[in-house]
Amino acid sequence: MKVDVIVGLQWGDEGKGKIVDYLAPKYDMVARFQGGPNAGHTIKFDGKKFVLHIMPSGIFHDNLINLIGNGVVIDPAILMKEISQLEESGFEVMSKLLISKKAHLILPTHKYIDAASEYAKGKMKIGSTLKGIGPAYMDKTGRNGLRVGDVFSDNFKDRFYVLKDKHLKFLHQFDALPKFDIEAEERRFFESIELLKKYKTVDGEYFINEFLDLGKNVLAEGAQGTMLDINHGTYPYVTSSNTITAGVSIGLGIAPSRIGKVIGIVKAYTTRVGSGPFPTELLDEVGERLRVEGNEYGATTGRNRRCGWIDLPQLKYAIMINGVTDIALTKLDVLNGFNPIKICDAYELENGDRTEKLPYDLDNEKIKPIYEDHKGWSEDISKAKSIKELPTIPQEYIKKLERDLKTPISFISVGPERSALIIV
Ligand code: GDP
Ligand code: IMO
Ligand code: MG
Repeated sequence: MKVDVIVGLQWGDEGKGKIVDYLAPKYDMVARFQGGPNAGHTIKFDGKKFVLHIMPSGIFHDNLINLIGNGVVIDPAILMKEISQLEESGFEVMSKLLISKKAHLILPTHKYIDAASEYAKGKMKIGSTLKGIGPAYMDKTGRNGLRVGDVFSDNFKDRFYVLKDKHLKFLHQFDALPKFDIEAEERRFFESIELLKKYKTVDGEYFINEFLDLGKNVLAEGAQGTMLDINHGTYPYVTSSNTITAGVSIGLGIAPSRIGKVIGIVKAYTTRVGSGPFPTELLDEVGERLRVEGNEYGATTGRNRRCGWIDLPQLKYAIMINGVTDIALTKLDVLNGFNPIKICDAYELENGDRTEKLPYDLDNEKIKPIYEDHKGWSEDISKAKSIKELPTIPQEYIKKLERDLKTPISFISVGPERSALIIV
């Protein structure tokens, strides 16, 4: 069997969690392959709301396994808190969760370095979630990191303190350091490591390949989005992992030929949280209205998300990089009442040329989006259960996107609840 993939095609927060949760019962495993607690995946059903950070979004269903894969970075304190919240809500976790031994650990001092580094950057800051993601991946590629499999060895604590010392020396370079309670954080870290040891750890790459050989289905759950990819995003305003389809092979240890369907999640408009270029950003009352109507506040940090119109050159780029076979269009309901709805078809460059490709520099000073106006609609579409139940104008919006993106839109989400979904 093959691994189907969910990836974000914009700057994250496209609604990946909702779609993974909906699709999960069709699979035998949901696997996270990259990122860590910088992610915030919201799932709503039966009037309840959950936000998952490290836990794969298949956890609300029985009869399937959730794997935290090799490519993920784990903050044990956050994972244990997530588990206890799920258990308090009546969801059993222990029997459904597997943790890859090769997943790296986020140490308290990774978070400290993240905060110090952002503070030192001042206006140039990335807008990191400050969860220690960048420093943990730096230690991974720098070959200093500690992994889940290491927690069982006798010298784990020694290795922890060697790395911590390295971090403290590194922190000396900063002129100013933000407040950080190392002792409390460290206490929490070690308490959580003891709890983590009770969960089942696996050789992720063997487990998943043998699982597929048995004819089982796997859904890989991406975090962040294509434009935050370390190689192909709006560098340096990106995260530190491979957020794209190729990251599935890297993060889970499956061959590229084992990738099946790639479902790209696209919000009906665009949002970004944190710093960095955003060509179609709206800094006016329309952008503010999108934020309010779309409830665009960070699921992990609570920060305001920046809002703007949908951007076709950006999406074409993401579809190309990911090999998207199907699109899931989310938050279409949020566009109710906006008139016109603008669609960015191309950019105008500084020299007046028009391009449908993403320029190297996406600085708003250097490129201007060229918009096409699309008629708005004012009917509530959040109860629609099929395409036919949608009024003509949103149907035309969907057709226009499908035509231009040359990719079928197979799912249309019209509300945050699990059930508010049209399967095309
Ligand atoms: P993720 O990180 O990609 O999983 O997305 P987030 O959970 O960070 O952000 C998506 C937000 O939109 C969450 O608050 C969801 O509950 C909500 N949401 C998802 N799909 C829809 C939809 O179709 N309509 C509306 N109105 N909200 C949605
Ligand atoms: P999900 O999975 C949106 C952004 C941060 C920042 C940049 C780097 O919920 O879609 P980091 O903490 O990784 O050093 O931050 O990336 N970012 C996200 N934005 N959704 C996310 O995850 C994000 N994870 C990181 O805001 O700009
Ligand atoms: Mg999110």
